[in-house]
Amino acid sequence: MLRSSLIWLSRQKSIFRFVRNNGFAKRSAARFVAGETIDTACDAVIALNAKGITATLDLLGESVTREEEARETGRRYLHLLDEVERRKLNANVSVKLTALGQDISDAVCEEILRSILERARQYGTFVRLDMEGSDYTQRTLDFFAQRIFGSFPEQVGIVLQSMMRRTAADVTWANGKQCRVRLCKGAYLESATVAFPDKKDVDRNYVECAKALIQDGRYPGIATHDPVIIAELSAWAKSTGIGADRFEYQMLYGVRRDLQDQLVRDGWRVRVYVPFGTQWYPYLMRRLAERPANIWFIAGNVLRETFRRR
Ligand code: FDA
Repeated sequence: MLRSSLIWLSRQKSIFRFVRNNGFAKRSAARFVAGETIDTACDAVIALNAKGITATLDLLGESVTREEEARETGRRYLHLLDEVERRKLNANVSVKLTALGQDISDAVCEEILRSILERARQYGTFVRLDMEGSDYTQRTLDFFAQRIFGSFPEQVGIVLQSMMRRTAADVTWANGKQCRVRLCKGAYLESATVAFPDKKDVDRNYVECAKALIQDGRYPGIATHDPVIIAELSAWAKSTGIGADRFEYQMLYGVRRDLQDQLVRDGWRVRVYVPFGTQWYPYLMRRLAERPANIWFIAGNVLRETFRRR
């Protein structure tokens, strides 16, 4: 119930307009978002790289309806790639197709994405296409397969969500193409017709899909903070002789930093998803929906910080 309400709130643009410049809300977002500028995001990456953790940078924004806004997002991604290269950061980028105009037209979206991918190729780096709600799953995979992957097989990858009933079949499809996949559980509210309503099915599907991707796929990103799943996959990889160079664990900025560090100490590769930008509200609400206890955790931190400043 609380999760559904928080996800509903994440879609309310009027509420975002209200909290956008609210100091309390901004300080709350700081736990999960690396500031609003490329500079603050790069600083966060420098700190991660110093700990042996790589990053993927995400300029927050989604569901863009004006072409000029999509083009501006494209230009900011080019600048981001330039900065990552200039500062020699160990980071690639993640992007949502709806931020590049997927809801306007596939042609506009393709043109903008191609310019980002050309720049990524120039720098020898990689662009991950985040996955959004189930209305976009087939559209995103078709767009990827029919318009993009053939021209940029080394530069681009997709995301699949273990909550979706279709995902085991999508994993087989992706392994057949040998395209790079990030596997996550899925952050959107979905109906039982397309997604598993029961968390234990989502988790079971996660482990099965992860093993298939690690065994037969191409350098998958195993994106979860679930300690039980991580322990199972790590033990399985070791017992089957799969080296730490065959996949990477991926986690979100500010989430389970203890586990991120532990995995690095244990010799596994870890990449952290570093979101930044002014459009932090829907992202923050999805993180709170995943773990409502974070509401109290964040409120406590912000209040402590506020009183310390006085
Ligand atoms: P789950 O939610 O079951 O949590 C397992 C444990 O992890 C919890 O018990 C808790 O200990 C910890 N945990 C999880 N979330 C936490 C939080 N917010 N704060 C503190 N602890 C937390 N989704 C999507 O739909 N499309 C996408 O493209 C992406 N991309 C993406 C990239 C990366 C790198 C990650 C890590 C995740 C995504 N996601 C995503 C989000 C993903 O689908 C999912 O919603 C979250 O990762 C939470 O799921 P977990 O796998 O962590 O498990």
